[in-house]
Amino acid sequence: MQCSWKAVILLALASIAIQYTAIRTFTAKPFQMCPIPNPLNCGLGQDAEAFEHVCDEYPYFNYNFSRKTHILILATTRSGSSFVGQLFNQHSDVFYLFEPLYHVQTTLIPRLAHSRNAADRRVMLGASRDLLRSLYNCDLYFLESYIKPVPSNHTTDKLFRRGASRALCSPPACDAFSPGETNIEEGDCVRKCASLNLTLAADGCRENRHVAIKTVRVPEVGDLRALVEDPRLNLKVIQLVRDPRGILSSRIETFRDTYRLWRIWRATGRKPYNLDLTQLTTVCDDFLSSVSTGMSRPLWLKGRYMLVRYEDLALNPLQKTKEIYDFLGLSMDKNVVDWIQNNTRGSNELLAKHKYGTVRDSAANAESWRLKLSYDIVDYTQTVCQHILQELGYKTVRSLEELKNMSLSLIEDKTFVPF
Ligand SMILES: *[C@@H]1O[C@H](CO)[C@@H](O)[C@H](O)[C@H]1NC(C)=O
Ligand SMILES: *[C@@H]1O[C@H](CO)[C@@H](O)[C@H](O)[C@H]1NC(C)=O
Ligand SMILES: *[C@@H]1O[C@H](CO)[C@@H](O)[C@H](O)[C@H]1NC(C)=O
Ligand SMILES: *[C@@H]1O[C@H](CO)[C@@H](O)[C@H](O)[C@H]1NC(C)=O
Ligand SMILES: *[C@@H]1O[C@H](CO)[C@@H](O)[C@H](O)[C@H]1NC(C)=O
Repeated sequence: MQCSWKAVILLALASIAIQYTAIRTFTAKPFQMCPIPNPLNCGLGQDAEAFEHVCDEYPYFNYNFSRKTHILILATTRSGSSFVGQLFNQHSDVFYLFEPLYHVQTTLIPRLAHSRNAADRRVMLGASRDLLRSLYNCDLYFLESYIKPVPSNHTTDKLFRRGASRALCSPPACDAFSPGETNIEEGDCVRKCASLNLTLAADGCRENRHVAIKTVRVPEVGDLRALVEDPRLNLKVIQLVRDPRGILSSRIETFRDTYRLWRIWRATGRKPYNLDLTQLTTVCDDFLSSVSTGMSRPLWLKGRYMLVRYEDLALNPLQKTKEIYDFLGLSMDKNVVDWIQNNTRGSNELLAKHKYGTVRDSAANAESWRLKLSYDIVDYTQTVCQHILQELGYKTVRSLEELKNMSLSLIEDKTFVPF
């Protein structure tokens, strides 16, 4: 550790170099990039001139990401993230990964599925950012340190939800299906494809123009700042939000054990004293942090952040998806349009503007939680999540009648224009 002061200087220099490169990125692409120095790597440079000199002399530190867009779908469980993931999975130019951070979490925090401990959270975030950075660079081997059992010969059959990624079920990663096949069932993929050869999967990643990753394991957009600012990446964050009352209702139906006490409350009308309120407040707090960050329009997020309400997608999937692709600067692919048409009701508004019946159908779907939750629970949720409901444009109800009156929509018209 005798050179630790040098490490500090190096890190300071590195941050200057990164900012410098970030500025250059806007004007010149493709570009060269200096490595982020490792503090242990004390011999790299002694002073500013030497550092710059080192950078100029080592062309193998070049990164050529100029053509790729790196997309992160930032979501939470039961907010419609699988649906949004599909909008990217179906695109023929996109290499899509479903929740790779699952492996980080199960390795680092095996006991608690969703630890809220601050130290756990920091460890998890650091590791998550490193993994995301590698995956966007198509370095899939990086995942191996988190997969159990450890893959041998870069091959594994333990990748979480491999079948949810079209690219991992088609050539070069898998030859079991004919190339034109668009509708591969997740289970079919796992059954018919041999173990996943990560070398081939990485080849597939490099052949695709863009990489999209979905996760519910990053709490808020501020946690991604280091990646957004990383000049080697071209990261764009699609943050998916949903009415917390809808999320809660969906979780109660889906995670029957974990949300057992909420079901007891719903059934008996009495709130159990040992109810884990963080199951609700965490959602609202994380949304609020993200939205506050987004609304303050920091320079580092400019052009890189889009807030999407799940309800707007459900109401108007084709048009909303087009807006998302416009924001990303990508064109919508025929497969995506086909998938939307096959998988949503009321997805034809663009083609047939007058079919209000189908439109109303989708909206009702997005609000079906109103028929499932009790007024007590809704009222409570509205109290603890008051601020974020208002920010996101979800109306509150003041009576059981209002709650159950489905012709009274609770979704305000509200557009979140990316800045
Ligand atoms: C970066 O990619 C572009 C487009 O494919 C290519 O023309 C260029 O030569 C590449 N630059 C480097 C340094 O590899
Ligand atoms: C890995 O590859 C080597 C060389 O091809 C082979 O000898 C070994 O059995 C393989 N290991 C496993 C677990 O498949
Ligand atoms: C995985 O694919 C690579 C590239 O084709 C190949 O060299 C390697 O042998 C494959 N690994 C296994 C275990 O089949
Ligand atoms: C949509 O549905 C049609 C008819 O069932 C099917 O042939 C086609 O493959 C589907 N396309 C997608 C992208 O799901
Ligand atoms: C339901 O809401 C609609 C729209 O506000 C209103 O016209 C109607 O009277 C309400 N129905 C009941 C039963 O409260």
